[in-house]
Amino acid sequence: MRQIVEIFPTERQRLFNRLEDRLETAYNLNRKVVSFQANKDEPIYRWFKYKEGFSAQLVKYFFSEYSPKPGRVFDPFVGVGTTLFAGQELGWESFGIELLPVGVFVMQTRKAVNEIDLIKLKNTIESLWTELSKIKIFDKHIKHISITEEAFPDETEISLNKYLTYCSSIKDKKIQTVLRFAAFAVLEEVSYTRKDGQYLRWDYRSKRDLSGKPFNKGKILTFKEAVMHKLNQIVNDLSTNKSDSLFSISENNGNERPPINIRQGSCLEELPKLNNDFFDFIITSPPYCNRYDYTRTYALELVFLGYNSEQVRKLRQEMLSCTVENKEKIDFLNQLYISYGNPEIFGKVLNVYDNSNAMTEVNSILEELNKLGKLNNNNIPRMVKNYFLEMCFVIYEMARVTKSGGFCVMVNDNVRYGGEEVPVDLILSEFAENFGFNINKIFVLPKGKGNSSQQMGIYGRTEIRKSVYLWQKR
Ligand SMILES: C[S@@+](CC[C@H](N)C(=O)[O-])C[C@H]1O[C@@H](n2cnc3c(N)ncnc32)[C@H](O)[C@@H]1O
Repeated sequence: MRQIVEIFPTERQRLFNRLEDRLETAYNLNRKVVSFQANKDEPIYRWFKYKEGFSAQLVKYFFSEYSPKPGRVFDPFVGVGTTLFAGQELGWESFGIELLPVGVFVMQTRKAVNEIDLIKLKNTIESLWTELSKIKIFDKHIKHISITEEAFPDETEISLNKYLTYCSSIKDKKIQTVLRFAAFAVLEEVSYTRKDGQYLRWDYRSKRDLSGKPFNKGKILTFKEAVMHKLNQIVNDLSTNKSDSLFSISENNGNERPPINIRQGSCLEELPKLNNDFFDFIITSPPYCNRYDYTRTYALELVFLGYNSEQVRKLRQEMLSCTVENKEKIDFLNQLYISYGNPEIFGKVLNVYDNSNAMTEVNSILEELNKLGKLNNNNIPRMVKNYFLEMCFVIYEMARVTKSGGFCVMVNDNVRYGGEEVPVDLILSEFAENFGFNINKIFVLPKGKGNSSQQMGIYGRTEIRKSVYLWQKR
């Protein structure tokens, strides 16, 4: 197969040749700006690090370059709302969809802190431990699921449940939200776990039966230490002038801030409900096609928010297919478009997917590699196929809801399986072109992403592109 690839240009190569003039190394978009790291000086992002996010700077950069006059901005994979809040600051009316309640809770907190009575919050925190010491009977708020069982030291679990019992007695909903958020934001710190890509990594001190090399995550804070530190951080940030710029109206020429509209649910279901030609700008970053499992990474937070095993499993399946556990959603999508009275759209989108030669090539090579036992999981071909299929529907819908002349910016990484590069940027851009977007640019970050150490051993250190696509509706 290698030889065939070398002698004949592959379909991926053909697509690359056709779109090569749109690829541009973006020296002004470094990895920091494209990732959550550039946010870390901003209060809300410092309180809870959503590592899957991009930076507010990135969003503001694209607004200033391509659409300085505010209108309506949209993000179908909103995460913790970077696009929406950066847009709002600059006077954009902001809309977004997010499936995971984790991001939705962070956004609710962000809204709550904007309107909070700071004196009341400080007073509540001052009397917190006195109030907690009075609680003898408490509810069991944390109801574990199998992947979170034994995640906390016993003492911490008790403190957490007492704290949440106290929180539910607080009448002021904004104060209650901020107090609950402080506990939510320290769950990892006070647990025996560490977020580690596809799953949680467990410290050797937990009561779990652990196999493999023991892992020591270092000092595990008590709940009191961690939550007080977090609450003080929040109060300090809210009290200082620095945070004023984040929460004030200064950047919007003194006008009232426009609203932020968030829908919780899957964008596959929510997008078709939106009006045609409605948005001026989309700035988004879908999950990458990289096996990253949000529902495992954020299992503690999901349990904290009251999600049980069944609900977590359901969320995992509703996510855009990016893990080997995701099952096909094709029948579901077919039924969905029938139920919305648009069965022809289903056929139209499927047609674009089926007509992508690069996509067909990727699918058949991955199937082949799988048969040869060259992939480290049998479900990788299914995941990749479904990732692109679902993204094809998302991109169709994004084109439909964008006004003529409006822009779409998408951040995404290319991936590689069994040594074969999957040019996510080119294939998704080709879909976009079919649905009415022009591919203005594919900005490539100066330094791509290396291979996983496992793959590097076999295929050598080559870099795959990490890109930001700029499409414009015709
Ligand atoms: C790369 S993150 C986006 C982060 C965001 N740009 C930010 O700065 O916070 C992708 C997001 O898509 C969400 N997601 C995955 N599948 C989804 C679906 N079917 N519908 C809506 N959101 C989904 C994930 O929960 C995750 O928050």
